[in-house]
Amino acid sequence: MASTEIRTALVTGASSGIGAALCRLLAAQGITVALAARREEALRELAETIAADGGQASAHRIDVSDPEATIEAIEAIDDELGGLDLVVANAGVVKGKWSGKLGWEDCRDILAVNVAGATATLIAVVSRMVERKRGHLVGISSIASYRGLPKLAAYSGSKAYLSNLLEGMRIDLRGTGVSVTDIRPGYVRTAMNEDTKGKLPFEVTAEDAAARIWKAIRARRAVLTFPLPMAAGAHTMGALPNLLYDRMMKRGK
Ligand SMILES: NC(=O)c1ccc[n+]([C@@H]2O[C@H](COP(=O)([O-])OP(=O)(O)OC[C@H]3O[C@@H](n4cnc5c(N)ncnc54)[C@H](OP(=O)(O)O)[C@@H]3O)[C@@H](O)[C@H]2O)c1
Repeated sequence: MASTEIRTALVTGASSGIGAALCRLLAAQGITVALAARREEALRELAETIAADGGQASAHRIDVSDPEATIEAIEAIDDELGGLDLVVANAGVVKGKWSGKLGWEDCRDILAVNVAGATATLIAVVSRMVERKRGHLVGISSIASYRGLPKLAAYSGSKAYLSNLLEGMRIDLRGTGVSVTDIRPGYVRTAMNEDTKGKLPFEVTAEDAAARIWKAIRARRAVLTFPLPMAAGAHTMGALPNLLYDRMMKRGK
C-alpha cells in the first residue's frame, strides 16, 4: 500500500509531545486522524487546531492502561472511520530510580501503559487489517530498548519488550498487506524530559521527530532509530560484551 492510501489513522498519546506533532503532520497530509489520550481538553484543542488548518480529527478519551476498554474503543473508531489504515502506539510514561530502591509503584504505570497499553493498541484491529489486506502498525519504542539502562531498568525493559513485540508481529504479518514499523527515538524535547535543564545529547524537537517518523511510515521501514549519532551509539552499545558495557555505564544510587 502506498503512503497516499493511508486515509485514516489513530494515534495514542496524542495530547502532547511526539504524538501531538505527528497528528498535526498526518492531518496536513489529508489523513483523518483519531486523537487518543486521557486529557480530553488537550485533545479537543488539538482537533480544533487541525480543523482550523483544514484537516480532519476527532478526540477520544482512551486510558490505555485499561487494555480491554482500549481494544473496545479502537474497534469502535475502526468502525466509525470505515477502517483504520494506520495505528500508532505512542502513549508512554517514564520513571527513573536506582534499582536498589525500586518499589512496585515505580514500575506499575510503566508496565500498564508501555507494555499492556501498547500491546492492546497494536492488536486491537490487527485481525481486521489482515482481513482487509491493508494496514500499518507503528510503535514508538526508544533508544532505551537496546540495553538495560541504570536508573531506568523498568522503562528500558518496557521498550525492549515493545521492540521485540513489533519485530515478532512484523515477521508474522509479512505477506498479509499489514506493515509494522518500530520507531526508536533518542532524546526528543517534550514534557517527558521537562525536568532536565540544558540540552540533552543530540536532542530534537517533537516536530523534527514527527517528520522522521512520517518519512519512515511512508517508506514502510521496519525499524528507525534516530538521530544518527544516537543510533550509532546504540548499535555499538548493543554489541558490547557485558564486562565493557557495565563499566561504561554510570553506577550509583
Ligand atoms: N521524549 C523523549 O525523549 C522520548 C525518547 C524516546 C521515546 N519516547 C517515547 O515517545 C512516546 C511519546 O512521549 P513524549 O516524549 O511525546 O512524551 P509526552 O509529551 O509526555 O507524551 C506522552 C503521551 O502519552 C499519553 N499517555 C500517558 N499515559 C497514558 C494512558 N494511561 N493512556 C493514554 N495515554 C497516555 C499522554 O497523554 P495523557 O496524559 O493525556 O493521557 C501523552 O499524550 C512515549 O512512548 C515515549 O516513551 C520519548
